[in-house]
This record gives sequence, structure tokens and C-alpha cells, in this order.
Amino acid sequence: MQINNISGYLPGRIVFFLVNCHLTPRPILLTRHGESLDNVRGRIGGDSSLSEAGEVYSRKLASFVEKRLKSERTASIWTSTLQRTILTAYPIIGFPKIQWRALDEINAGVCDGMTYDEVKKNKPEEYESRRKDKLRYRYPRGESYLDVIQRLEPVIIELERQRAPVVVIAHQAVLRSLYAYFADKPLEEVPKIEIPLHTIIEIKMGVTGVEEKRYKLMDAVNPTAEV
Ligand code: F6P
Repeated sequence: MQINNISGYLPGRIVFFLVNCHLTPRPILLTRHGESLDNVRGRIGGDSSLSEAGEVYSRKLASFVEKRLKSERTASIWTSTLQRTILTAYPIIGFPKIQWRALDEINAGVCDGMTYDEVKKNKPEEYESRRKDKLRYRYPRGESYLDVIQRLEPVIIELERQRAPVVVIAHQAVLRSLYAYFADKPLEEVPKIEIPLHTIIEIKMGVTGVEEKRYKLMDAVNPTAEV
């Protein structure tokens, strides 16, 4: 790649992005953590551990990853810093694990730990504002989807740089944002993308573009209702 006469912030960022990209075909496996105790209670945010079903998923995921990546020389497992993703990765052995704060779930600020019904009842203006514009709505003392998308930039650059497979174990809002980037979905659709529990989305990056496969390893026992 030859680079000449680059000046200014945006051209500099574009060059940085391009020199970090490459076309080695490799899979990226995206999955939410196994069902958590807060998923069972319908509570948003928090840092709870896994339910029994979530623990079953973590073991199923480990054997899937072992089979899927057994022919690969290297691979890595990325989680957030929240225990539900770390516990989901726990049974996977033989690959390095990396924790990223940037992969933590959307910060629900003053609504953290509430159910959607409690938000509707106790904070009706917040509930209504989020319903009207979920992409731009920022929880008081928390984040919006646009904030999440922005903080994921270093994760995306690192994913583009990898030559080996990566398993990303993260959260609903974060995975909607990452998936939208790879699947080239419009910004407005990001908060509505389906990322079910207990399902692996395999993205294959290669010279001919991006291919996708979904593997549902088990049913989500308590699918969380969305706003
Ligand atoms: O309910 C699970 C969860 O990961 C919450 O922790 C988070 O607030 C929510 O999903 C994000 O999804 P939505 O943007 O649809 O509320």
C-alpha cells in the first residue's frame, strides 16, 4: 500500500484503518453469554452470574469451539469484564482469553438493575424517550447505542487485524453493534437486530466478502423482552 500526502484527522484515521486490515480468511464467532440470573429475573445491566441453563450453554459452547477450531493453529477468546461472559468462557480450554472493558454491556445508568416494566412505571419519560429513538437515547448517567458503537472502534480495528479465529463472548447491545458492522446493516437498524441467547453467529471474512452462519446450541429459556 502506498500512502502520499495524507493530512487531517479523518484521512489519518482511514489510513490507520486500511493498514490494519487484511484479507486472510478466518472466522469470527459471536455469542452472547449464557443465560444469566438477571436474564431470568428480566433485569437489565448488573453483573450477575449464570443460571443453570447458562452453565449448560457454557459447556455446549466449549465443545462446539473445540470441534470448530481444532484444525486451527491459534485462536483467541475475547470476553467483556463482566462475570457472565467470563463464566461462559470458563469451560473453553487451550486458547488464550482476553478481557475487554469495551465489550461490556451498554451502561443503563440510573436504570441499571431494573426490569423494563419498572422503567416504564417509575421512569415513564425515560421509557418513552428510549422507545421513540433507541439508537440515540442515552440512559441518564449511562450510555446510548451511539456511545457503544463509538467505544467499539478499537475492538473492530483489532478484529480486522487478526489472522486467526476469534470467539467474542459479549452482550446483546454490544453484539448488535459488532454484527451490524460486519453484516453492513444501516445504523438505524442496530438496536433492533436479533441476537438470541444460546446461539453462535459465525462470520467468515475472506476475499469474496463476508459470509454468515448461525448455530443455535439450545433454546433460550427466558428470552429477555425488549423495549
Ligand atoms: O437484557 C439483557 C441486556 O443485555 C441488558 O443487560 C441490556 O440493558 C439489554 O440487554 C440491551 O438490550 P436493549 O437495548 O434491547 O434494552
